Amino acid sequence: MKDTSPAAIHLSDYAPPPWLVDRVHLTFRLNPGATRVRSRIRFRPNPDAAPGQPLRLDGEGLTPITASIDGTPVTAAPDATGLTIPAADLPAGAFDWQAEVEIAPDANTALEGLYVSRGMFCTQCEAEGFRRITWYPDRPDVMAPFRVRIESDLPVLLSNGNPAGAGPGWAEWDDPHPKPSYLFALVAGDLVATSDRFTTAQGRDVALNIWVRKGDEHRTAYAMDALKRSMRWDEEVYGRAYDLDVFNIVAVDDFNMGAMENKGLNIFNARYVLADPASATDTDFANIERIIAHEYFHNWTGNRITCRDWFQLSLKEGLTVYRDQQFMADMRSAPVQRIADVLTLRARQFREDAGPLAHPVQPASYVEINNFYTATVYEKGAELIRMLHLLVGDDGYRAALELYFDRHDGDAATIDDWVRVFEDATGRDLTQFRRWYAQAGTPRLRVTEDWDGARYTLTLAQHTPPTPGQPDKAPLHIPVAVGLIGPDGAELAPTRVLELTGAEASFTFDDLRARPLASVLRGVSAPVIVEHNLTSEDRAALLAHDTDPVARWQAGHDLARDILHAMVTENARPGPDYTDALARLLSDDTLDPAFRAFALGLPGEETLAQGLHEAGHTPDPTAIHAAREALARQMAEALEPPLARLFAEMDTPGPYSPDATAAGRRALRLRALSLLSRRDGGARARALFASADNMTEALGAWAALLQIGAGAEETATFYRRWQGDRLVLDKWFAQQIVNAPAERATAAAESLAAHPDFDPKNPNRFRAVVGALAMNPAGFHHPSGAGYRFVADWLIRLDALNPQAAARQSTAFETWARYDPARRALIRTELDRIRAHPRLSRDMGEMVGRMLDSA
Ligand code: BES
Ligand code: ZN
Repeated sequence: MKDTSPAAIHLSDYAPPPWLVDRVHLTFRLNPGATRVRSRIRFRPNPDAAPGQPLRLDGEGLTPITASIDGTPVTAAPDATGLTIPAADLPAGAFDWQAEVEIAPDANTALEGLYVSRGMFCTQCEAEGFRRITWYPDRPDVMAPFRVRIESDLPVLLSNGNPAGAGPGWAEWDDPHPKPSYLFALVAGDLVATSDRFTTAQGRDVALNIWVRKGDEHRTAYAMDALKRSMRWDEEVYGRAYDLDVFNIVAVDDFNMGAMENKGLNIFNARYVLADPASATDTDFANIERIIAHEYFHNWTGNRITCRDWFQLSLKEGLTVYRDQQFMADMRSAPVQRIADVLTLRARQFREDAGPLAHPVQPASYVEINNFYTATVYEKGAELIRMLHLLVGDDGYRAALELYFDRHDGDAATIDDWVRVFEDATGRDLTQFRRWYAQAGTPRLRVTEDWDGARYTLTLAQHTPPTPGQPDKAPLHIPVAVGLIGPDGAELAPTRVLELTGAEASFTFDDLRARPLASVLRGVSAPVIVEHNLTSEDRAALLAHDTDPVARWQAGHDLARDILHAMVTENARPGPDYTDALARLLSDDTLDPAFRAFALGLPGEETLAQGLHEAGHTPDPTAIHAAREALARQMAEALEPPLARLFAEMDTPGPYSPDATAAGRRALRLRALSLLSRRDGGARARALFASADNMTEALGAWAALLQIGAGAEETATFYRRWQGDRLVLDKWFAQQIVNAPAERATAAAESLAAHPDFDPKNPNRFRAVVGALAMNPAGFHHPSGAGYRFVADWLIRLDALNPQAAARQSTAFETWARYDPARRALIRTELDRIRAHPRLSRDMGEMVGRMLDSA
């Protein structure tokens, strides 16, 4: 490591803030190149901290104009990250801090703090952006009510809380709920609102507004509907109502993340608000529904109860992801939603847990907190709550959550507080369960069986491989949902939750008529990898008969995985078992089309690479791609009649609707189309592209053509039709790269990066090109190394503009250790080249360091 590397922050070093804030007054005089921010902050000593400590204020990139304490000018000089006022210069009790600073929002390409996005001022303060706006103890355990005045000629001026007055060129906002600085927000622009109202269960009349650029108003209806459903759901399911008179949502073009839960003023990446049938896909609609709900749900889980420090991030993010998953399960099909969530968990979190960036849900240290908004904190964090729910039952969960809100409303709380409410509400001892929060890595659950003619014994054994910094792992408390299926396909034993707490345990089932088939980890009851050596006949039987839909889908997925592994490692030729089983499933019209669409989907190339690596092989992305293609061709051939029937029958007559039923039909239809295109040369896809009245089918048809090496004409047509639409153009960029043949993928990315519409400063566009190449594994990992070089070049360039976005994209390299020596050497060269770059950001320095230092 370079000796210039910034110091790590440790959980064990937590100390309460010496100074608390009673009230914040901010005044903004907006100007793109020179915005003035005046602050008046009432500080008082924290009775729970050691007395006589200095006042440390965070501040980065601020031009100081004035600063005073109780009217006396401050003489202390700022350093690179803030300002320290020695205790001797501070009054004995409470005091007023007043300051004025100047900042330059139009020069802010990092998109943290106050910045300008196509003429619109907006903020992003989580996690540590507020310190780029003014001097402040920028830590979440300092909570205060804010009063904000905005001065600008722009017509719409917004901040947190309730409106408190407005006139020509100014507006004031008052947020009565004490909040940490990371939830501060300000927006100013020439915006228009779609407005509605919501009456809470307590009778509060809330004004709802979705603010967008002129011309985008016709794309807000779905987000508004999702918002109202989220508000009602949180009242009905969690008993939590909204607590201000207005709720504003703003769509912003340039935004690093998906969206942000600022109190009363949620700010969204435009792609997660704006949708209409012509320009948005079913996936876009589902993402909007989920993210609108997620940010709204943070009002209670995140804002009213916030995090004591950033090591507690999963307290709000894991819980809020779990809540958005529950909401989606209620709005749509619960098993289909669970399958989608499990796919995300494995693709993102298991991948992270298996590589150099593995870390616990509660990390013990970090260098740059932005690097810890990870799949582990989010998705695994949500899985831990799902397990707690399963372990304590519905009544226990409800009681624990009631206690959580009663005990901690208004607090900056910890993960330990969270687990304690489950203990106190249910009387369960969760000492061992807490290990899930501290121990990284994905546990392996080995399943073995014994049948003595009358009694069936299931033995479960657990083992977690080492992760960086954690060589030895202790056993976890794992809930394993198990059901038994008889030889005739009937259920012999309904789902039972077995609790594995030691390294190994056996569970017996008596009085069985015949040797059962075990359906293990139903519903994916824990975030573990199951090692269960079932024959393909057994898997096919589970695929045909399992009464748990998630386990049923899993059986088909495992069957396909086993075949693909054998194709890659033994050059095996797939037999008819898999396609025979699929044929039966596809023609079962009692099954939800969305479920059948998932059943028809093959494991992704990344998932296959990870599975091969876990099984002790060195994955070859080229061979994996070829095997997956070969199996897809065989499926297309063997299943042509049922696929053709489904393609014809799964149309959705009448006007487009984004509802789950219609979306499920389209998903199945497009899966069928993708396979059929390998038989009909793209005839059906060309016709659908030409006739589709919605983006889902148009994009699906075009992608099916690209996958068979066709579609050039459609690529041009698509561009002509949509060249003025930023969100749709992102799809145009990404599809061409994701679906490019391996040999041409990097060249496609290079030429698109030279396209006049490419703009690396826009995070969505950057991801649509650089991120898209990483999503084409055979292209990205092409043995030439050109893919690695392209991504590294752009990471270096983007790091100078937007470190947070660049560091996120660097995870393209997190799987390097899986690969062969030649590919490893190529990746290493690129990581070394990034690390050697002068002026590397702290964000990128930490990521590349963690990836290289585990080598
Ligand atoms: N609080 C986050 C947004 C955020 C993330 C701010 C990282 C700063 C750094 C927000 O609630 C969130 O989690 N957004 C997700 C979407 C969500 C549905 C998981 C996102 O932006 O990806
Ligand atoms: Zn969140």
